[in-house]
Amino acid sequence: MSGPLALTDTTLRDGHQSLLATRMRTRDMLPIAEKLDAVGFHSLEVWGGATFDVCLRFLGEDPWERLRAIRKAFPRTRLQMLLRGQNLVGYRHYPDDVVREFVKRAVGNGLDIIRVFDALNDCRNMALAMQVAAAEGAHVQATVCYTLSPIHDLDHFVALARELAGMGAHSICIKDMAGLITPQAAYELVLRLKTELALPVQLHSHYTSGMASMAYLKAAEAGVDVVDVAISSLAMSTSQPPAESLVAALRGTDRDTGLDLGLLAEIAEYFRKVRAAYAEYDVGQQLDTGVLIYQIPGGMISNFHSQLAEQNALDRLPEVLAEVPRVRADLGYPPLVTPSSQIVGAQAVLNVLAGERYRVVSSETRAYLKGLYGRPPGTVNPEVRRKVIGDEQPIADRPADHLEPGLEEAHRQAAPYMEQAEDVLSVALFPQVATKFLQERMAARTGVDWNLAEKAKGVYPA
Ligand code: CO
Repeated sequence: MSGPLALTDTTLRDGHQSLLATRMRTRDMLPIAEKLDAVGFHSLEVWGGATFDVCLRFLGEDPWERLRAIRKAFPRTRLQMLLRGQNLVGYRHYPDDVVREFVKRAVGNGLDIIRVFDALNDCRNMALAMQVAAAEGAHVQATVCYTLSPIHDLDHFVALARELAGMGAHSICIKDMAGLITPQAAYELVLRLKTELALPVQLHSHYTSGMASMAYLKAAEAGVDVVDVAISSLAMSTSQPPAESLVAALRGTDRDTGLDLGLLAEIAEYFRKVRAAYAEYDVGQQLDTGVLIYQIPGGMISNFHSQLAEQNALDRLPEVLAEVPRVRADLGYPPLVTPSSQIVGAQAVLNVLAGERYRVVSSETRAYLKGLYGRPPGTVNPEVRRKVIGDEQPIADRPADHLEPGLEEAHRQAAPYMEQAEDVLSVALFPQVATKFLQERMAARTGVDWNLAEKAKGVYPA
């Protein structure tokens, strides 16, 4: 394989989601757009993941307006988003009418590439979003969530990618959300996919363990088409590897990216200043070697710290870290990514603190064992299932098959404050958060305070 390695820049989505709690505002993105647009990136990841929720919940920004503003500011470069399959940009399954309308509007407002994944790698939870994105004319990138377990070998990932190819994927993404992929594993997986499937392959990794740049180099040798990077000042730590280092490392080789290091340096200087303005959310620069030892993402370990500290039980941390792989095995080895990482982590804490495994069970673990998140990758421990849900049979079909349509009710709720058709979707996804946002937007524009009654009751701080 020769020819330039293409780069996707994630600074405006995963970069600040990983390092700055997703807090970067649109006004800090647009001033650098002309330069970012001139680099020649394969694409820019700018939307989806947690950005939608955070816009509405914390920033008082309309995510749809952000998307249109970004589209306008980047006339040359393809724009892409991360979509959690049937969960869209939320944390639960949404009915099909909501999924259809959301994907249609996302493409209609300017996205070129839709990257679709499911936390359990359950293709049934990805199918509808993939179909709609393709029908709307977008590039459909289907994702394999990369994880380590006795059942997740090369053959498993290749079979999964082949199934996604059969479902009409235009390209395959290997999503290494915890930074677990070793350089050798990246080489072997990319080589198999490139040899056995006639599709472009993109690798998405996180710098968390310090291996990602090495994995990209080996993936480039194996013929990967595109890798995900961030501008250096918002790279590394739990973000993506830095763009500039890869550009320099490949110079003069047959995978030379041809990108301009001087221009990238100017962009890095801009984001260095932006980052400083978000210092209160900044996770800082650190390597998490815990990932290498426990195969548990750094975010989970810091959650354990705070959960156990609340219970005055920090001394139980080693037991919890040992319990995580056992819970994961009981649940059929789900990849640890939103929302399965939260389900496994919380249950591990309960199992340790309750003194008996599965004596106390979270409602999420119960729902998982009923099949309400989808089909686990491996076999669930039958004793654990019996202990939690008794003789009840898990559902065998798609979780969304059990949901009533949601658009009509969302429309009813959004109607008094509506300014655009997309408002209905915001409400369908996050009923309380979005309705409050729409009310406040209307108050700001009309001077009529819709929250006055609630404020009088003291619901909101002054
Ligand atoms: Co990521």
